[in-house]
Amino acid sequence: MTSAAESKEALRRAMRRQRAEVPVEQRRLASETLTNASRSLLLGLSAPIVSGYVPIRAEIDPGALMASMERYGARLALPRVEGDRLAFRLQLPGTPLVPGAYGIGEPAAGSPVVVPDLMLVPLLAFDRRGGRLGYGAGYYDRAITTMQPRLTVGLAFACQEVAAVPMETHDRRLDLILTEQGLIDCRRGAAHSRSMRILFLGDICGRPGRTIVTQQVPLLRQRWKLDAVIANGENAAAGFGITEAILHEFLECGIDAVTLGNHSWDQREALVFIDRQPRLVRPANYPAGTPGRGATLIETASGARVLVVNLLGRLFMEAFDDSVRAVERELEACPLGQVADAIVVDMHCEATSEKQVMGHMLDGRVSLVVGTHTHTPSADARILSGGTAFQTDTGMCGDYAGVIGFDRREPVRRYIERTPGGRWESASGPGTLCGIAIETDDRTGLAVSAARVCIGPELENCGPAW
Ligand code: FE2
Repeated sequence: MTSAAESKEALRRAMRRQRAEVPVEQRRLASETLTNASRSLLLGLSAPIVSGYVPIRAEIDPGALMASMERYGARLALPRVEGDRLAFRLQLPGTPLVPGAYGIGEPAAGSPVVVPDLMLVPLLAFDRRGGRLGYGAGYYDRAITTMQPRLTVGLAFACQEVAAVPMETHDRRLDLILTEQGLIDCRRGAAHSRSMRILFLGDICGRPGRTIVTQQVPLLRQRWKLDAVIANGENAAAGFGITEAILHEFLECGIDAVTLGNHSWDQREALVFIDRQPRLVRPANYPAGTPGRGATLIETASGARVLVVNLLGRLFMEAFDDSVRAVERELEACPLGQVADAIVVDMHCEATSEKQVMGHMLDGRVSLVVGTHTHTPSADARILSGGTAFQTDTGMCGDYAGVIGFDRREPVRRYIERTPGGRWESASGPGTLCGIAIETDDRTGLAVSAARVCIGPELENCGPAW
C-alpha cells in the first residue's frame, strides 16, 4: 500500500466516526438546506440529466435537492453497480427501486442507461480544491473519468471538510462541494490565475452589424486575449429579433452569450428555439412562464464562470415585471465570488436615469452594468465607486449613417409628413462596432478597467489600452 493510500485509510476511519456524530435532526435540516442551491447548480444546463444517489449510513441525504432540481426541469438518474462499474439509469416516476449489489436501492435493470450532465457525488471527506475521499472502491472516480459530466458536485456536511485529502493518480477532483453552509467552487484560483477580459457589444443591427461583428470578434478575441464576449442580438434580423441561423453565426464567430430585449420575439421562431439554446438570454423580468431564461452561466476556456443577466426597463416601455426583484433573484442564485467569477448585466432600457439607477443599485455586486436599446453610445464608460463597470448605453453595432440602424429616408419622411408610409428597412452601409471592454480583478470579480470600444467608419474609434 502506498503512503497516500495508507493516509486515506486512516482518514476514512476518522471521518466515518465524525459523520456519524451529526445528530439526526441536524442531518435532516442540512439536507433540506441543500435545496437553496438547486437553481445555481442548474444555471447554463438545459433540461439536464442529474444523477443522485440513495444515501447509506450517515451520508447527507440528496433527496430534497434532487426533487427540487426535478421541479426546475432536471431528469433524475441513479447509479447501479454493474460489475466493477457504475451505470447510471433514469429513475422513472412511480418505478420502485430494487435492492442492488450492496443492498442499496437501485433502478431496475430495464431503466434506460444515461450519461449524467451533473453528477451528485457522496463522500466521506473533502477539501477546498475538490479533493474527495470515497469508500475506496473507486466507482465514482472511474465513472467521472469515463463519462466526463459537465459538473461534478460533492455533497457533504460542513464538518467533513479537511485541510487536504491525500490524492492518488486515479483520484478525480470535484468541481463543486455543496454543504449545509453553502457552495464551494473548487475551480476558483486553481482554474485561472489572472483577471478576466470581457467585451460586451451593443445591439447588433441588421446585416451591417452582423458583418462587422463576425469579422471583428475573432480578431479582437485574439488581439485583446478576451476571456468572454457577450452581445445584444435583439435587432440582428434586419432590425427585428433574431433567428436561430443568425444565433449560430454569432456563436461560431466567438460570441459566448447573446442577450435580447423588447424585440425578443419579433422572429416568432425564437419562442421555440430559445429553449434549446442555453446561451441565448431574454429579459429576466418577462412574466413567469415565458420561454427561455433570464440569465445564463457561461464557462471560459480557463474554467472561469461568467453570469449574464438581461433586464428590461420599465420607463417609456411596455409594462413588464419588476426588474429589481428579477435581478435580485438571479444574483441570489448565483452570487459574485461564490458561483460566478464575473457578472454582466445588460439593462435594455429607454431612459438614461433608469439605467443609471440600476448601475448604482448593483454597484459592488456585479462586474458590469451596461445599457442597451438606444443605439447611441454614451461617453460615460467608467468604474463606479463600489467597483462595478458602467456605461449608460453602449450603442449599436450597425450603420450609423441611418436612423438607429434603419435606412434614414423613411423615418425622415415620416417625421416631416406625419403620414404612414413604407416599412422601416435596415440601413445597408458599412457597420460600426460599439461596445465596452472591461477587465476584472480575479479575487473580487469587480472591474479594474473599463473602456469604450468603437471600430468602424462613422464614429471616432477607441478601445482599451491592451
Ligand atoms: Fe430594444
